[in-house]
Amino acid sequence: MERIVIEGGNRLEGELTVQGSKNSALPIIAATVATQSLCVIHNCPNLTDIKAALKILKYLGCSVEMSGNTLTVDSSTLDRYDVPENLMHEMRSSIVFLGPLISRAGKAFLSTPGGCEIGIRPINLHIYGMEKLGVKVSEEGGKLACRCEKGLKGADISLSFPSVGATENIIIAACTAVGETTIMNAAREPEIVDLVRFLNSCGARIEGAGEGTIVIHGVKKLHGAEHTVIPDRIVASTYMAAAAVTGGAVELKKIMPVHLSPVISNFEQAGCKIRMSGDELIMVAPKRLENFNLIRTMPYPGFPTDTQAIAMAMACVANGTSVIIETIFECRYKHVPELSRLGANINVEGRMAVIVGVNKLIGAQVAASDLRGGAALAVAGLAAEGKTIISQVKHIDRGCEAFEENLRALGANIRREIDEKGSKKTIGKKHSL
Ligand code: UD1
Repeated sequence: MERIVIEGGNRLEGELTVQGSKNSALPIIAATVATQSLCVIHNCPNLTDIKAALKILKYLGCSVEMSGNTLTVDSSTLDRYDVPENLMHEMRSSIVFLGPLISRAGKAFLSTPGGCEIGIRPINLHIYGMEKLGVKVSEEGGKLACRCEKGLKGADISLSFPSVGATENIIIAACTAVGETTIMNAAREPEIVDLVRFLNSCGARIEGAGEGTIVIHGVKKLHGAEHTVIPDRIVASTYMAAAAVTGGAVELKKIMPVHLSPVISNFEQAGCKIRMSGDELIMVAPKRLENFNLIRTMPYPGFPTDTQAIAMAMACVANGTSVIIETIFECRYKHVPELSRLGANINVEGRMAVIVGVNKLIGAQVAASDLRGGAALAVAGLAAEGKTIISQVKHIDRGCEAFEENLRALGANIRREIDEKGSKKTIGKKHSL
């Protein structure tokens, strides 16, 4: 069992290069299945979720090689069309293999992903999209059996909610459908735009990515391509928050500032000064943050649900009362009781959280319940007085590459410990750099 130990109170300052986006890399990795050839993906983060996706590729018969942050996938040898339950459960977003398998082979057998830490996570929109493209979906022995014997046919697909995963699955499957597919109320996230950039370089003909209507002109076949994954906007905002709660400053390199536009005004409202130029962003925080009036999570370009917990950690130590409304996931406040252990003053009523900023948080033992909630505990721990010990760090490892190393580079006193047969070992350097 591993845990992260933070001695809070250090002011964070320095520069960081932001990792590649997990949420962009995952659908791109899955989409390599549809290409039938060699793909090279650069800036692919080393994360447990990525490793889980690579396990699926290997299970399907693809050759996979990860060297540093460059991933090479040869999917020409693919010879299976099912994803077993244990691999589906290792990574909830494995449903994104549905579209690629259907495009590649006209069939896919997946177990249903089920709920996860942040909500029920249904897949009705994914299934609706596949059915509109001509796929027959049934349940066989607890598995989702998807077959398209007559070939995929382009269709008009109107989503009742702009689901990111459903939009991705439909785009990938529709690439090789006969005719034209139009997705209305499509998700507009930067990760969709990145996926489409990759698919278009594989020979797909997709227009409108980043807008509410996406048109896919079917092509016969996709070929391999080389692609560089976009920087992770959520991880970028995590490091900004980490510096902000300590009254610090951070210079982020290799980011796409425009992807952070949904959160910039909130950081400014909290009193942070932000300067952006090219692929860099500089943020300087005040000694004490000001409260947020109201943050309502929304599909892009609204405030991201993935930054909600991190913003809440900032609100916990801000001067005044902040209100957060979580509209995307029904169960995304599991970090609240843990933040309260550190002395935060938070009241949750349904989807609304009211946070009264306190003068100081005090370190305590807490447990990460999900990826972003875990990162939020680390942010709060950096601001807290004394020692914060975070258990269940496997959640943080799903999405943050070299998390402690990066924070140490900014001056944080943070380390990872491991308990091996009762003996405690320290991983990494003990003190701030
Ligand atoms: C992706 C991101 C996740 C982010 C989320 C919202 C990845 C790997 N994950 O998840 O980090 O928090 O977008 O920005 O990219 N829904 C349905 N039916 C469906 C599909 C979704 O009702 O068939 C609902 C979900 O329950 C949820 C909402 O739609 O309430 C948003 O889900 P969706 O946009 O699909 O998120 P994911 O793609 O799973």
